[in-house]
Amino acid sequence: MGEVMERKEGTARYETRGEVAVILLDNPPVNGMSAPVRKAMLEGLDRALADRNVKAIVLAGAGKVFSGGADIKEFNTPKMLEEPSLRTLITAFESSPKPTIAAMHATAMGGGLELPLGCHFRVAAKGTQVALPEVKIGLLPGAGGTQRLPRAIGLEPALNMIVSGASVPAEQLAPAGLFDELVEGDIVDGAVAFAKKVIAEKRPITVLRSRKVKHDNPEAFLQFARNSVKAVAKNYPAPLKCIDAVAASVDKPFDEGIAVERELFVDLMGGPESRALRHAFFAERAAARIPDVPEDTPRRKVEKVAVIGAGTMGGGIAMSFANAGYPVTVLEMKQEAIDRGFATIRKNYEGTVKKGRLTEAKMAERMALLKPTLNYADLAQADLIIEAVFEEMGVKEKVFRELDAVAKPGAILASNTSTLDLNHIAAITKRPQDVVGLHFFSPANVMKLLEVVRGQKTAKDVLATVMDVAKKIRKTAVVSGVCDGFIGNRMLKFYLGEANALVEEGASPQQIDRALEKFGMAMGPFRVADLAGNDIGWSIRKRRYAQYPDEKKLLIADAICELGRFGQKTGSGWYRYEPGRRDAIPDPVVDNIITETRKKLGITPRKVSDDEIIERCVYALVNEGARILEEGIAARASDIDMVYLTGYGFPVFRGGPMLYADMVGLVTVKRAMERYRDATGDKFWEPAPLIARLVSEGKSFN
Ligand SMILES: NC(=O)c1ccc[n+]([C@@H]2O[C@H](COP(=O)([O-])OP(=O)(O)OC[C@H]3O[C@@H](n4cnc5c(N)ncnc54)[C@H](O)[C@@H]3O)[C@@H](O)[C@H]2O)c1
Repeated sequence: MGEVMERKEGTARYETRGEVAVILLDNPPVNGMSAPVRKAMLEGLDRALADRNVKAIVLAGAGKVFSGGADIKEFNTPKMLEEPSLRTLITAFESSPKPTIAAMHATAMGGGLELPLGCHFRVAAKGTQVALPEVKIGLLPGAGGTQRLPRAIGLEPALNMIVSGASVPAEQLAPAGLFDELVEGDIVDGAVAFAKKVIAEKRPITVLRSRKVKHDNPEAFLQFARNSVKAVAKNYPAPLKCIDAVAASVDKPFDEGIAVERELFVDLMGGPESRALRHAFFAERAAARIPDVPEDTPRRKVEKVAVIGAGTMGGGIAMSFANAGYPVTVLEMKQEAIDRGFATIRKNYEGTVKKGRLTEAKMAERMALLKPTLNYADLAQADLIIEAVFEEMGVKEKVFRELDAVAKPGAILASNTSTLDLNHIAAITKRPQDVVGLHFFSPANVMKLLEVVRGQKTAKDVLATVMDVAKKIRKTAVVSGVCDGFIGNRMLKFYLGEANALVEEGASPQQIDRALEKFGMAMGPFRVADLAGNDIGWSIRKRRYAQYPDEKKLLIADAICELGRFGQKTGSGWYRYEPGRRDAIPDPVVDNIITETRKKLGITPRKVSDDEIIERCVYALVNEGARILEEGIAARASDIDMVYLTGYGFPVFRGGPMLYADMVGLVTVKRAMERYRDATGDKFWEPAPLIARLVSEGKSFN
């Protein structure tokens, strides 16, 4: 080995091995191409070019991967464009008079693939995954990827990779010509050996930019691709723009194609969908961090899990843990309840097996991880115990007293309660610091969202531990303080309140569902209610009416429930349903209830516009969200957005209610709230003090 430069964190190292210079990306964890790394790579290249003994240059990555592409810490900052930019760097490696060889291992993504596409040769370790995933954040590869990849592997496979953003193994792309060699063993050794061959054989330098894209009938293929993508991409412009960019690689000279790519990239970058998708990407990462819980907080060991209650939620929660390989003890009071619960779990898994998404063997493995019991003593070894029994304080008190008696010291005791006071539950035990809320959403084995409810006394290491566990069971965890409904349901109450008020005022449930679905909600509020069961909300409302006599009653919803119309499960609710079908059919019985209620309230129905429906329902979320933020129930606006994106079907291309309000502009949102306050006399519409303050300071939530 020749000279070795001393290592600097977050940069690129340079060394020589005989006639081969090696530039080694070194910016853990994924060798993101930050400004200092780009600068060090260019310095490495210049040094190699200046050294008469160097005949070829290898670009490789230190550590676990070659490169994950742009450094996400630099995203949306001027640093990302600081020279040398990625494009400058690619041009430098491409126009080098000495052969440049990219040596990829494990992962080569985004810019981490675009730079190798500018090199003269490419080698990869077996099993390397390559991708241009920009479309997933509403963008397209903006450093030549859309022009060089089709030239390297052909139009169809390149278009598929760029439009889907999917990872493809190197083995699949080597025959297409992306790699000159697949390397076994150490990637740098392999690449240096390859470089020596290039030198010895005097292989000519070739660049992708001078190649032609191969395809027999590109126009027909591109038209077909456009039609198929248009049908599925609907609210997302990026996939179609990816096609436009790739099309330019076919019918334009390279430099013109690059100009088209640039223009389309800038268009997408400035559009609302990409902003929303990038926001969601960062919001998910931000939610995992709790401001006053340091990253290096020691974690408690969680190997054995227990769930109390094998009902709707307990069963789904137990499945989530079994799916991630945790052994789970499931406790019920009676054998029949165990049998019922386990039969449901089995049926659920069998359904997945039938769909071909789970093997019989995996199902057997997961079922074997689930151990039923009727005996609290069997929970003594559990590291994490999650209670999902009936939503009654008396029952929860009993359970937590039992848990306090049997659980080992340091075990985390969690409650899945949706409406009860977690601090009260914690205080039943002698270890309130070990108690936390884990609010799963139904169906718990499917829904991504997990609200982690932080009690007054919840210990920091308990929080840090459950955030890690959430990741292991593949949930998106968001921390909420204790309040009625936590983040999600507390806001939902006002959203549903507006939907109901709008029906009283003159809209139909169908119009409201349609308007909000057009806005992008996965399902309108009344169809959701029928799916989830109207009885759940009704029982919560009845309790609230008794507790808070001033609370506004949802008269139409109550009347529907009084008829036993609990939704799909009873064949009728806000709509009626044919046996065995899920289509929501408008029902004259409901129309009658609505007409009668309006009469009772002395309301003359008026025409309600779709815009008003969207504003009132969505701004209701925003106003309550602002209060939640101000009270510190949520740590950041983006946490609230994450709750709505992952738990309530809020459209990702709008980024969540808080980002949506930012994009509309808080001044406009505030004025609309004041208009509704004046028109309805409802004091809820007084804009939250936080909104007023942000408007006066010219700021936004995010
Ligand atoms: N259903 C939802 O959509 C939903 C969503 C989030 C949270 N939650 C909460 O989850 C909890 C459970 O709700 P669910 O819908 O699964 O109810 P469920 O009625 O389907 O299940 C409750 C189960 O707990 C068992 N159980 C009752 N008392 C028990 C005890 N003392 N010991 C052991 N087992 C006992 C019952 O036999 C039953 O199987 C509630 O706190 C609820 O608020 C429900």
